[in-house]
Amino acid sequence: MNAAQIIALKRDQLPLSTEQIEWFIQAYTDGSLPDYQMAALSMAICIHGMDKAEIRALTIAMLQSGVTLSWPHDARLRVDKHSTGGIGDKVSLILAPLLACCDVWVPMISGRGLGITGGTLDKLESIKGFRTDLSLEELQRLTEQVGCVITGTTKEIAPADRKLYALRDVTATVPSIPLITASIMSKKLAEGIGALVLDVKCGGGGVVRNMADARALAESLVEVGTAMGVSTTALITDMNQPLGKMVGNAVEVNEAVALLKGEGPKDLREVTLALGAEALISSRLATDKKEAHRRLEEILESGQASEKFSEMVCAQGGNLEQVCQVATPTSILANRGGYVSGVDAAQLGRIVVQLGGGRQRMSDQVDHAVGLEMRVRIGDVVEEGEELLRVFARKEATDPLITNLRSAIAIHDEAVGTGPLILERVQPVGSNEDE
Ligand code: URA
Repeated sequence: MNAAQIIALKRDQLPLSTEQIEWFIQAYTDGSLPDYQMAALSMAICIHGMDKAEIRALTIAMLQSGVTLSWPHDARLRVDKHSTGGIGDKVSLILAPLLACCDVWVPMISGRGLGITGGTLDKLESIKGFRTDLSLEELQRLTEQVGCVITGTTKEIAPADRKLYALRDVTATVPSIPLITASIMSKKLAEGIGALVLDVKCGGGGVVRNMADARALAESLVEVGTAMGVSTTALITDMNQPLGKMVGNAVEVNEAVALLKGEGPKDLREVTLALGAEALISSRLATDKKEAHRRLEEILESGQASEKFSEMVCAQGGNLEQVCQVATPTSILANRGGYVSGVDAAQLGRIVVQLGGGRQRMSDQVDHAVGLEMRVRIGDVVEEGEELLRVFARKEATDPLITNLRSAIAIHDEAVGTGPLILERVQPVGSNEDE
């Protein structure tokens, strides 16, 4: 069977066999299958979806296009967290060192920002000298030495994903649950982990905007992780406003450092602890949520996680005394009083990209100094003239920037309720785990 016949099968909504999927991915990775045929198959998958067996086969084929880390027999259990991406999401910076203080290793392979959501690696590069390009040997050695690393992917890990993701980006085939699942899970499984917690962000500032899609994505990710022998759960968390107060790069590092020192915003702490608790329960280091929370809170309060973060930064060549200086702030004031009824998180993300804090194209340079600080949250009461947010920009903020920022915060006369931050937990089908 040739490539055109396989594409036609998918176009006609017929499942592909494991052999067909393996052949496609291998041929695409070695260059014998041209971009236009892979683009046609990706579009057919995007439109018609894939069944569970196909998604699993696609993930395995992509994983096997590269290496999987193997760890010594006496290694600690490896655990990781992955977020589908949201505005102000700096949880990885806190959670990696926090979990590393709990007798597990966290070999976190992270990504760069593209579009409205920032990337963990870009944030960390606000720290002078911090290396996000560790070799596989360095990644393993530093994980064993420190307990955690946060670094970029390497050419040896899931090369099929690297090539396919670039193609999807320019062929409008990013938003597809099978393709997202295989892309995320092939890279995570390559870390050689035993437990994984996924943070599926749901709302205007995330890749998925409604609960039905978030649930479908979370279930797909959990299904593949579980099938591959990794203890996997997911939390669907709110992304209708930025997580924490800060959005940008250096500002987010500063906020993460503050939280590690026991300060920092409540919502960020809540989501970080909830994900951490999932990771500890999946790793069998805590029997229930209460015990996991107690352990994580103790570690945060003792300053151990903060020390572990400093140790990781130092091991990766960074100097925490030299976080990029944040640009000059300008306050954006409310032009009316009332209740904050909504925040357009996607618009705030776009504005940070326009300021230079994110990328429109993968080749764009990131300005670590710019960003935003939220001064209000949904449900707050504001007076006319009160500060809604601060913008850290290279140039003085003038219209239309001020108008665009102000219009991202809706103010109405009626009070609005605030919903939960953790919207749902997704566990493997048939599992009786305690929530
Ligand atoms: N992140 C990834 O790594 N891959 C996707 O397809 C989407 C988000």
